[in-house]
Amino acid sequence: MLHVDSVTAGYGAISVLKAISLRVAEGEIVTLIGGNGAGKTTTLNVICGVVPVRSGKVVFGGRSITGQSPNAVVRLGMAHSPEGRKIFPRMTVLENLEMGAFTRNDKAGITSDLERSFALFPILGERKHQLGGTLSGGEQQMLAVARALMSRPKLLLLDEPSLGLAPLIVARIFEVVKELNRGGVTVLLVEQNARTALRLAHRGYVIETGEITMEGQASALLADERVQKAYLGE
Ligand SMILES: Nc1ncnc2c1ncn2[C@@H]1O[C@H](COP(=O)(O)OP(=O)(O)OP(=O)(O)O)[C@@H](O)[C@H]1O
Ligand SMILES: [Mg+2]
Repeated sequence: MLHVDSVTAGYGAISVLKAISLRVAEGEIVTLIGGNGAGKTTTLNVICGVVPVRSGKVVFGGRSITGQSPNAVVRLGMAHSPEGRKIFPRMTVLENLEMGAFTRNDKAGITSDLERSFALFPILGERKHQLGGTLSGGEQQMLAVARALMSRPKLLLLDEPSLGLAPLIVARIFEVVKELNRGGVTVLLVEQNARTALRLAHRGYVIETGEITMEGQASALLADERVQKAYLGE
C-alpha cells in the first residue's frame, strides 16, 4: 500500500533522512521506533506531503505521491494524526471533527462517522460543544485521532499518540487502533513507547539518526537484544 524508496529530506542545510526505505502492506500495523530526533516525525511528514522529498520517491496505492500537497494526499486516502495533537483550539470538538471530513460531501456518511467517533471515544460526545483548546491533553489526543478518521482513510499515520497520557487513556487509544485495524484500516505508528507499539504492531522499523537500522516482525524486534537495550530499557 505504501512504499517509501530511498527518500532523503531535511530542513534548510540540514539533512535529516538519509535514503530511508520502508513499506506498509494493506491491513498491517507497522511501527517506526527510534530515539528523540531520529527522524520519525520527519518521516511521517514526508509521507503525507508536509515536508518535501529531496530525492527518492513515495508511492501510495500504486501511484507516486512524491511532491503532492497534503490535501491531495488526504483525498487519496491517507490521514495523519500529527505529533503534539495540533487540533484547532478555537473550534468546538464537533467543528474539529467536521474539518477532518473536508474532502467529503456525503452528509449521511459524515453524520454516521461522527457517531462512530463518539462511540469510539464517548468523552468526545459528551464534550462536542466544548472548544478544542479547553480539552485535557488526553481528550485532545483522542480528538486528533478521531479527526484523522473523519476522512475515512485507508492508511492512518499516527505520530506519538500516547505522548504524555495516563496509562488508561493510552490503553484506550491503542485499543481503538486495534479495532480500526480489524475494520480494515492500515496503520503506520510512530511511538516512543516501543514496547507497547511492538506488541500492537505486525512489523517494525528502527530509525537512528535518519537511517533505518533494523526491520522485522514485531515479535522478533521485541526479542532482539539491541532493541531491548536501546528502546525497551532491559
Ligand atoms: N522544522 C524544522 N526545522 C529544522 N530542523 C528540524 C525541523 N523539524 C525537525 N528538525 C530536526 O530534524 C531532526 C529530526 O526531527 P524529528 O522531529 O523528525 O525527530 P523525531 O524522531 O520525531 O523525534 P522525537 O522523538 O523527539 O519526536 C532533529 O534533529 C530536529 O531538530
Ligand atoms: Mg517526533
